[in-house]
Amino acid sequence: MNTHSHYVKKLSGVSKFLLPPRPGFCYRGLNFRKAMAVNRSQAKIIRKWSRDGYCTLTLEAPAVAGPARPGQFIMVKVSDHGHPLLRRPFSLHARQGSNVSIFFQVTGLGTSLLARKAEGEEVDILGPLGQGFSVGEAGTKPALVGGGRGIAPLVFLADELRAAGVEPNVFYGGKTAADLPLREELERQGFDVFLSTDDGSLGFGGLVTELFGKRLDSFRPTRLFACGPEAMMENLSALSLREGIPAEFSLESVMGCGFGACWGCVKKIRHRGAAGWIKICQEGPVFAAEDIVWDGEERG
Ligand SMILES: Cc1cc2nc3c(=O)[nH]c(=O)nc-3n(C[C@H](O)[C@H](O)[C@H](O)COP(=O)(O)OP(=O)(O)OC[C@H]3O[C@@H](n4cnc5c(N)ncnc54)[C@H](O)[C@@H]3O)c2cc1C
Ligand code: FES
Repeated sequence: MNTHSHYVKKLSGVSKFLLPPRPGFCYRGLNFRKAMAVNRSQAKIIRKWSRDGYCTLTLEAPAVAGPARPGQFIMVKVSDHGHPLLRRPFSLHARQGSNVSIFFQVTGLGTSLLARKAEGEEVDILGPLGQGFSVGEAGTKPALVGGGRGIAPLVFLADELRAAGVEPNVFYGGKTAADLPLREELERQGFDVFLSTDDGSLGFGGLVTELFGKRLDSFRPTRLFACGPEAMMENLSALSLREGIPAEFSLESVMGCGFGACWGCVKKIRHRGAAGWIKICQEGPVFAAEDIVWDGEERG
């Protein structure tokens, strides 16, 4: 067995992939010399909701729900027939007791197979995985900015902030009104929600970054948390650094394993002034604005 191979141990219906220690780049003081345990479990789909190419699945998953933190994700096996072979990553969108939800957009084969699953079926999942948002550092007036499917982890974050006595402002943008399928849910829950659409079919007409920028005249967030298309996050990152607003972003990358074994997800991240390639599945997907080397920055 080589350093990054894994072994599987069965523990009362939940398998544990135990990754051996590895030396190397250490981000935010995380200690990777310790073995990392990854829960594997079978989760029953207990509720399904879908609209306009978006789908929410609520899973009975106590091993995930217990330790889950906003910004973490699970790897879902979308097919029992080996195609597609790789699991797909999805952020934790909500937690209710021993259940968790994922919210996703159908973008290709994996997500369309997952969207075809029915209530009562089981899916094989790994997680919770990764490092989430710094909920404890949100301050009194955090802002959450979600672009399209990027709203997924921010709903869980909004719930946890509220549970901690903090009411966030939620900015939710999409190309058209159909790309804002969670707007009613957020409004029903009583969050302060600011909507934008690129085509002006709902809310502010323009990019969610423009809407957020305009609101800064009257509202100064204590922290910004965001997830969405890379260009959106890169713009927000520049704005937050310019305005001195601490910000965290949940990054996406194609992921082979989700737990640090394949190196499929590496991105350039700064640590103590120097940029290094790190695995975002393990040390992210959430990173501080000042640490992210954006693709646009690399192109110059
Ligand atoms: C940490 C993390 C959390 C995520 N959370 C969510 C979520 O909550 N909701 C949601 O809708 N999507 C989320 N995604 C993106 C989601 O994983 C991809 O949309 C999904 O894997 C596409 O699979 P597919 O087989 O349907 O598409 P494919 O046919 O494989 O590809 C379709 C498109 O998706 C891109 N893609 C493929 N695989 C991945 C991947 N593993 N990661 C990122 N992009 C990929 C491809 O580049 C292509 O543009 C997340 C991704 C990451 C890394
Ligand atoms: S997805 Fe395999 S190392 Fe990150």
